[in-house]
Amino acid sequence: MILLTIESTCDETGAAVLEGPAPPVSGVPRVLSSVVASQLDLHERFSGVVPEIASRAHVRQILPTIDEALHRAGVSLGQVGAIAVSTRPGLVGSLVVGLTAAKGLALALGVPLIAVDHLEAHLYACQLAHPSANSYPCVGLVVSGGHTSLFACKGPIEAELLGGTIDDAAGEAFDKVANLLGLGFPGGPAVERAAASGNRKAFAFPRSLIHDDRLAFSFSGLKTAVLYAVRGQDARLGANLDEPGVVADLAASFQEAVVDVLVAKTRQALRMTGLKKLGIGGGVAANGRFRERVEEMAKELDIELFIPPLSLCTDNAAMAGIAFAKLEAGQVASLDIDVKAGLVRPGR
Ligand code: KG4
Ligand code: ZN
Repeated sequence: MILLTIESTCDETGAAVLEGPAPPVSGVPRVLSSVVASQLDLHERFSGVVPEIASRAHVRQILPTIDEALHRAGVSLGQVGAIAVSTRPGLVGSLVVGLTAAKGLALALGVPLIAVDHLEAHLYACQLAHPSANSYPCVGLVVSGGHTSLFACKGPIEAELLGGTIDDAAGEAFDKVANLLGLGFPGGPAVERAAASGNRKAFAFPRSLIHDDRLAFSFSGLKTAVLYAVRGQDARLGANLDEPGVVADLAASFQEAVVDVLVAKTRQALRMTGLKKLGIGGGVAANGRFRERVEEMAKELDIELFIPPLSLCTDNAAMAGIAFAKLEAGQVASLDIDVKAGLVRPGR
């Protein structure tokens, strides 16, 4: 069974071809090709993703990206047995482009259309990366530019939302702080590079909600604390960006504050659910310091940790291979399905 998957939730146009067992046989699919057409150069000068620019770029890129994925996999359209597409959550104008392409192909080829939840797909990247293990049931943490959410996942398509951010997402905070520090876009990798030579304890930035009983995150206060430090508005934290090493110290102290909170809340979710496996997905999971700290925690708590390689952390279409699980469960979408921009309880 050959599956063609399409991803266009934000600013990456993705297409992938996967080979999986024909339903009802379970198994982890094999990725034959995965192509991501990045839009980073288009959004860079705005220091963030501009939704209108993103949708227009998806329109230009979607068909060539699909063609490229088929070509690299050595598969013709006639061999495709189903089409999967991320329909939620994301930027509405971006989602619509991927869904429209997917509907057109499904209709023309007469094959099933499968709607994928982007957050469940981020967590499924853990399973794709570890095909010989079972990454479920697990606590799932999606930590990306748009989301910071914790789930209790019984299986790939049985994710229950435990909690999430009440303001900025962790990746969004990385992007905004990188902008404040003049480090460029996307902010995550830039902050991580700058932090490598910095002192994590140089600035005592806040760890919001870290002791709160709820599984909630908040990063906007941290972002403001960095802003005040940069502007010298906070006497305690005052920083002069022209002094050598200050940008590195700010980056390292900020990164440590984000990582402290992510690790503490994940630990809390593991304790509350009693689950013994942890799956992590999303762009921020590419962060080396975060991976190091999560690995330490997993070892300490004797938790089985599943975290994908960097290429499967950031947005890609291969992770939409979760569609095989949906197909197996008989969850085929009708051709009049629409996109859902906001965070929807996965599985519903
Ligand atoms: O999952 P993703 O590609 O797209 C969304 O679904 O949002 O995540 C992108 C986010 C951006 O905010 C980016 O700055 C962040 O992931 N990111 C990182 C790193 N690499 C990407 N954040 C921290 N450290 C990194 N190495
Ligand atoms: Zn994503």
